[in-house]
Amino acid sequence: MGHDPRIEDLIARMTVEEKVGQLGVFADAVRPFAPDVNPEAVARDAAATMEEVRAGRVGALFNGVGAALARETQRVAVEESRLGIPLLFGADVIHGMRTVFPIPLGEAASFEPDLAERTARATAIEATAAGIHWTYAPMVDIARDQRWGRVAETSGEDTVLASAFAAARVRGFQGDAGLTAPDSLLATPKHFAAYGAVLGGMDYNSVDISEAALRDIHLPPFKAAFDAGAITVMSAFNDISGVPASANRWLLTDLLRGEWNFDGLVVSDYTADMELMAHGYAEDEVDAARRSLTAGLDMSMQSDVYARGLPVAIEDGSVPMAVLDEAVRRVLSVKARIGLFDDPYRCLDGARDEDRSWLEAHTALARDAARRSIVMLRNEHELLPLTRSQKIALIGPFASDRDNLEGCWNLFGERDRAVTLEEGLRAALRDAGSLAVVEGCGFEDAIDGGVEAAVAAARTADVVLLAIGEPERFSGEAQSRTQIVVPPAQQTLAEAVAATGTPVVVLLRNGRALALQGAVAEAEAILVTWFLGAETGHAVADVLFGDASPSGRLPVSFPRDSGQQPLFYNHMRTGRPELPGKPWEFKARWREHPQSALYPFGFGLTYSTLDYASPQLSALRLGWNDTLIVTCAVTNTGDRDVEEVVQLYVHDRVASRVRPVRELKRFQKIAIKAGETIEARFTLTRADLAFTTADGGHAAEPGRFDIWIAPHSMAGEPVTFELLAA
Ligand code: NOJ
Repeated sequence: MGHDPRIEDLIARMTVEEKVGQLGVFADAVRPFAPDVNPEAVARDAAATMEEVRAGRVGALFNGVGAALARETQRVAVEESRLGIPLLFGADVIHGMRTVFPIPLGEAASFEPDLAERTARATAIEATAAGIHWTYAPMVDIARDQRWGRVAETSGEDTVLASAFAAARVRGFQGDAGLTAPDSLLATPKHFAAYGAVLGGMDYNSVDISEAALRDIHLPPFKAAFDAGAITVMSAFNDISGVPASANRWLLTDLLRGEWNFDGLVVSDYTADMELMAHGYAEDEVDAARRSLTAGLDMSMQSDVYARGLPVAIEDGSVPMAVLDEAVRRVLSVKARIGLFDDPYRCLDGARDEDRSWLEAHTALARDAARRSIVMLRNEHELLPLTRSQKIALIGPFASDRDNLEGCWNLFGERDRAVTLEEGLRAALRDAGSLAVVEGCGFEDAIDGGVEAAVAAARTADVVLLAIGEPERFSGEAQSRTQIVVPPAQQTLAEAVAATGTPVVVLLRNGRALALQGAVAEAEAILVTWFLGAETGHAVADVLFGDASPSGRLPVSFPRDSGQQPLFYNHMRTGRPELPGKPWEFKARWREHPQSALYPFGFGLTYSTLDYASPQLSALRLGWNDTLIVTCAVTNTGDRDVEEVVQLYVHDRVASRVRPVRELKRFQKIAIKAGETIEARFTLTRADLAFTTADGGHAAEPGRFDIWIAPHSMAGEPVTFELLAA
């Protein structure tokens, strides 16, 4: 991209303090500010923040809301600061703004990137009306360890699935009318990179990883987000094999700008530059600022490390002015590209903030997104769908709860619009059946007489809906767990209710995969309902009564036991694989459990039965430059119309580096009517078979490959083809 003369003119006139000012992102204390989602650092009140803006010491403000006050702050920046450079307003708008959509993990379970594009678009419309230009989303980290608290924000354990959702969300946030469109919300894939690979699943922990794993597993979703048009990226807190990501020149410059030609800006995660000192990677603030900036970190979030450190480093010559200018140029270029120099009041229109014309459409979208995110794990004796005449007991701490519907990272949602499980069921029943509601226990503690009341209600009901799982606070930042189980008080409730013999439908609330045990694992039916957002109650009722068939699939493997973590379907082949039927002695498994998941990645039932024919290949030998067409006849053998997620997996039999047992390459959700047969059709080229080879290149290697078209990652029989050499 050539240099913009307006920007060059500004840089020529800026003082060092003003240049450093453009690199700072600070808490927006002027507007109502999002609640405690970050630890406190550099607290400034509204007046002090305004003064910093007036002095030209702020490039961006974040996590404030409301167009009118942002307009006033922008007026101060444009009219009262010496150079009149407009501010950028950022915020964590992760899964909805006013209208809350399912958590990203839940939405990924839809296996419908188009759906994520639509909810991101709706989010952008609401956020840009509320005075926000820039969102710190999508989170595109890969989550292979379910102990990690931030699994909830991801698209799960698989790279191809996560890449598709990353691109879709970027397209949705930014829209297709250009970055200057009034409702275009700038996207920020995060956290660059490998934040999901923290050791032991403990948030902020270190990451020791091979370059091959980085490139093949963790980086592709970022590349997909950039290819979809993202021009900002957030650096991660963690180190990568000893070098903190936020000061990692190989990552932020050699790879990102050199290899990938990224021409946007890198913003630090909250105080990540300051944390170089705690990492023991920088001596002091000046050193931290120097290391971060020269590595390629353009903006510093909330730490003041750039503000205090960079002027010193410029003065002593350890940071050349040209390096500072380049970072400033990137920040100003992003502002120019979203039209702020032409219209600094873009997205700061009070009238639009008041306009609620989107309400009906976005509420309907929230309901659709929520029901498409639900995954059915069990349905013994076709207990589901229910009939409206049944006597239902809704039992559990989530039954009428309104505080745990949204999930983590929802800062600006309209909570009064949220529909609880009880409300959704009552609306669906329309007095047809009867509904008893009993809390039974708290999220973590027993309540007096709770279990007894629950048992009594279960005894007189035809069916129990057991609303249990993790409260919202169990997932999100700094919420890693060692035992990924239903809390013991709720497990006790489940055991007592199950002992009544009344059939139980578990309505699981969760921000990660859980190790289901005892009566929960053995319930007649299990619906994974994540945190579904505003329309939770309606969406769950839609699925329970069969107005919608469950069509979600697991984006994360549900283990048999917490101790299996990290557990993911696309693990490498070992030298001693467990053999079916001969599980024992000297094999890769645990003493207590096999290596496999209880419910694997891609798994999910519908209200029908489906039959997969053997996949047909257009050729058994694929030429180096040819395209392979793979088809599979899928038949709905039941009597209900459903939607099925058809999945294509590949396995490279022999390679220069050990390869995973299977890898998802394609997926497609298709509607199949009762009795109908549909041909699913996919195409593959050698690009789909490429990986980081032993010599460090990225290529496919000739040889034999297995290919499955199957309903989940452990199902189906493979067929084989050969990739011929060039
Ligand atoms: C820290 C989180 O890691 C990041 O995801 C978020 O965008 C920032 N805080 C800003 O709130």
